[in-house]
Amino acid sequence: MAEEMKYPSVFACPLCGLFFEKTSSGVQCTNGHSFDRAKEGYLNLLVGGRLATSAVPGDTPSSLAARRRFLSTGAYGPIAQTVSDTIGDIDGAVLDIGCGEGYYLSHIRSPHKFGLDIAKRGVQMASKLLPDAEFVVGTAYRLPVHADSCDAVFSIFAPHSLDEFQRVLSPCGQWVTVTPAAHHLHQMRPKRDENILERERRRDEPPEHASNAQRVQFDLNLTEESAHDLFSMTPLVWQTAADAAPVTRVSVDVWVASGFKS
Ligand SMILES: C[S@@+](CC[C@H](N)C(=O)[O-])C[C@H]1O[C@@H](n2cnc3c(N)ncnc32)[C@H](O)[C@@H]1O
Ligand SMILES: [Zn+2]
Repeated sequence: MAEEMKYPSVFACPLCGLFFEKTSSGVQCTNGHSFDRAKEGYLNLLVGGRLATSAVPGDTPSSLAARRRFLSTGAYGPIAQTVSDTIGDIDGAVLDIGCGEGYYLSHIRSPHKFGLDIAKRGVQMASKLLPDAEFVVGTAYRLPVHADSCDAVFSIFAPHSLDEFQRVLSPCGQWVTVTPAAHHLHQMRPKRDENILERERRRDEPPEHASNAQRVQFDLNLTEESAHDLFSMTPLVWQTAADAAPVTRVSVDVWVASGFKS
């Protein structure tokens, strides 16, 4: 368990951006803002605004449990492999933004792994999975992370800000995103109306701003339980359309896009 924060850490005070020093109960910045460390070892750096007080920001505990069950079958292994190969073997700090329960970070080949998610339950699960990594609860749109501190950042099916990528990346640092392409899980989606077709046409193009984009496509033949878990861990579960449903034969179709600090 990450009883001690590992230094140097990429994490900064979310209130003033200054460096943290370790205290008996957590950390404190040079301006005196202090944050307790949870027993699992992570810090809660989510401050201010409505999100900090809302009951469960981000993915719900049941969606995170479904995600853990589904990902541990290895069904999305080709995505994890592509992300890990894109980043490669590096000695520097790697930050997973919207890390969920930690599956993708567990595939990264770096001794200095950091993760952030707005869902406390996800950060708890990730901290237990990867005791040598350091995790915080925080928001992707205003990262509690020092400028120029990360050699790679990545975000998989999660909200992210390209401006924040640029700010926190070190010179020559690399960013990687995974986003759905046109046919991703189309068998589980409601029938296409013109809006959906238009969105699919856009997803046929690689994400803007990427200097490289690899399309990863494969088919899955799932058990009913896994199909249900996959459905429950995506926004599809909130669809009111009666024809959105878990099915066992699905196509995975994603963009693994990357770029560098500019
Ligand atoms: C679809 S899940 C993907 C999780 C993980 N990357 C994976 O693929 O297994 C999206 C994740 O983004 C997190 N999230 C949502 N809004 C966020 C925000 N503003 N900042 C950070 N994380 C956020 C959710 O809590 C959730 O864990
Ligand atoms: Zn501070």
